[in-house]
Amino acid sequence: MQAFLKGATVQAPKAQKEKALAGSSTEKTVKAVPWVEKYRPKCVDEVAFQEEVVAVLKKSLEGADLPNLLFYGPPGTGKTSTILAAARELYGPVLYRQRVLELNASDERGIQVIREKVKTFAQLTVAGTRPDGKLCPPFKIIILDEADSMTPPAQAALRRTMEKESRTTRFCLICNYISRIIEPLTSRCSKFRFKPLDNHIQETRLLDICEKENLKYSKEGISALVRVSEGDLRKAITFLQSAARLSIAKEITEHTITEIAGVVPNKMIDNLLHICFRGTFEKLEVAVRNLVDEGYAATQILSQLHESIIEKDFGDKQKSAIAEKMAVVSKCMLDGADEFLQMLSLCSVIMQQSSQD
Ligand SMILES: Nc1ncnc2c1ncn2[C@@H]1O[C@H](COP(=O)(O)OP(=O)(O)OP(=O)(O)O)[C@@H](O)[C@H]1O
Ligand SMILES: [Mg+2]
Repeated sequence: MQAFLKGATVQAPKAQKEKALAGSSTEKTVKAVPWVEKYRPKCVDEVAFQEEVVAVLKKSLEGADLPNLLFYGPPGTGKTSTILAAARELYGPVLYRQRVLELNASDERGIQVIREKVKTFAQLTVAGTRPDGKLCPPFKIIILDEADSMTPPAQAALRRTMEKESRTTRFCLICNYISRIIEPLTSRCSKFRFKPLDNHIQETRLLDICEKENLKYSKEGISALVRVSEGDLRKAITFLQSAARLSIAKEITEHTITEIAGVVPNKMIDNLLHICFRGTFEKLEVAVRNLVDEGYAATQILSQLHESIIEKDFGDKQKSAIAEKMAVVSKCMLDGADEFLQMLSLCSVIMQQSSQD
């Protein structure tokens, strides 16, 4: 009992944050809440498109039993939302704060913290009933969000804790890249892959938000939104909110969306490729300089060039040589290379390959 009371003093940082948010939403600052938070699924049923995960979780929630979980997949597909919603359904709002510890990349999660904070929290025993007498699962949940940013020694320190405390604690690891989680941890968890959201699903949710926020929109605007966000619903919702701010009382159009998303107009990309195929190196230099000076991100230009090249009527050999160069350029840019020089170098390879056609 003493241990249980002690547990009451442990407060998940996220829960505190959310409490602050919830508090402010009852006051007059409702508008300050970002839409991604406002429209975050409140229960597991509201999570769209991830049927397998939802089905398994719901079964577990019925039986009040949960395996250790590992969620992985691209950004903005509902990983964090799903586990937060599941935990809230399991414990209710009051018990949630005692039973759930959420640590993400913004918290210190070196080996020391795993040894002390996580272990101490995991060792607390918990009762199988709520203060109001209702039954609840006799375990706690530790959510390690963005687990791929944890150092391998910190991950290794988790292994034994995970096994030893399995009677009272379930772990939920969340990451984008499962390859960065050490094998012994992945084999201790049930793995769930979160898929990039389907266009249709994204559209439905965006339209729903438009309706609730009383926005004017055009059909093309919404499809552009879905296109530029590439299965990342968080990105789509954030763009939608920016677009709504930008065009108050006006319609959200395709133009607004591409402008906000920093997408390079197709005309400019086509023009660049045209020069690569037919022009001279001097012209190419001017065109690339213009693009970079306009402030378009080189990574964006790269991804759009990639899309266009793949669709072009080119030989496989040429395409593969260009793709290889793209990979090198992408790595160089991640390492902080000059955007103009990298783009120029890529375009000159495209030029060279196209002349071999
Ligand atoms: N499957 C989904 N169903 C409903 N809403 C979703 C879904 N996926 C994402 N969203 C929306 O996107 C927002 C971000 O989702 P969430 O934080 O769960 O993403 P994530 O998968 O944890 O991404 P990251 O890997 O970047 O942490 C949510 O607030 C929600 O509004
Ligand atoms: Mg997340």
